[in-house]
Amino acid sequence: MDTSTVTQPRRAERLVTGQPTQDGAGVKLTRVLTHDLQQRLDPFLMLDNFASDDPKDYGAGFPSHPHRGFETVSYMLTGNMRHKDSAGHEGLITDGGVQWMTAGRGVIHSEMPEQNDGVMEGFQLWLNLPGKDKMCPPWYRDIQSPEVPEYTTGADAAGVGVRVRVIAGVSHGVTGAVQREATQPLYLDIIFPEGGGSFSQPLPAAHNAFIYVYRGQVDVAGKPVARQRMAILANEGDGVTLQASGAARALLIAGRPLREPIAQYGPFVMNTRDELIQAVEDFQNGRLA
Ligand code: CO
Repeated sequence: MDTSTVTQPRRAERLVTGQPTQDGAGVKLTRVLTHDLQQRLDPFLMLDNFASDDPKDYGAGFPSHPHRGFETVSYMLTGNMRHKDSAGHEGLITDGGVQWMTAGRGVIHSEMPEQNDGVMEGFQLWLNLPGKDKMCPPWYRDIQSPEVPEYTTGADAAGVGVRVRVIAGVSHGVTGAVQREATQPLYLDIIFPEGGGSFSQPLPAAHNAFIYVYRGQVDVAGKPVARQRMAILANEGDGVTLQASGAARALLIAGRPLREPIAQYGPFVMNTRDELIQAVEDFQNGRLA
């Protein structure tokens, strides 16, 4: 059985342009998944893309700050970022590596660049936790680049095809670095070669999904999606088919919606306002982490 067949591909329901913003101690970044899309793209809360070769844009990093109630997934394309947290974890993510952190009941951490020049490029995705898990113990894993599962599909006679890195979920029979039962996240980095190519991924229609193109151009069911655009995929059909006529790279991110109330105050994401007030009090009183 070919588990990668898609016969009714999803359409691109809407194209979204990211918002330039700053976070941390003044890191310039593009917020791709913004607050107003949290319901539509449940269980995903945020996606940031940082990309600069100017240390003034990233050098100040993200000094000590708290999180509660969700997970952060950092994917570094190029550069070095050191993480330290209140649970005693420390690690360096570098070119092609991933850091997956479950904040649960609370983490205070810093994320600081470990370079003074050169390119820093990558992503941070926020993935919600179901209410029953929001106060779970924190969890953390560094996944260095060679440990990120990947495969090549649709290879030509010369062996050149579409390269797919499976950060989370399962794709074409390849199990990704991280699995989550409640949200069933799929997180793929899809790399089209010079000659372009086609890539299909089955998806349950109920799962919310989007792509973010960060190199070249990718077509979704005939609709061109330019670089630095997110395409929200309609909840229909049996999967998604992406095509590129030249070199291109895109993230494909999908997950099972939690369908719970989302209450956010900065770095705290809970179900109710009372839980947010509790989080702020816990942080102020030194009880968060
Ligand atoms: Co953080």
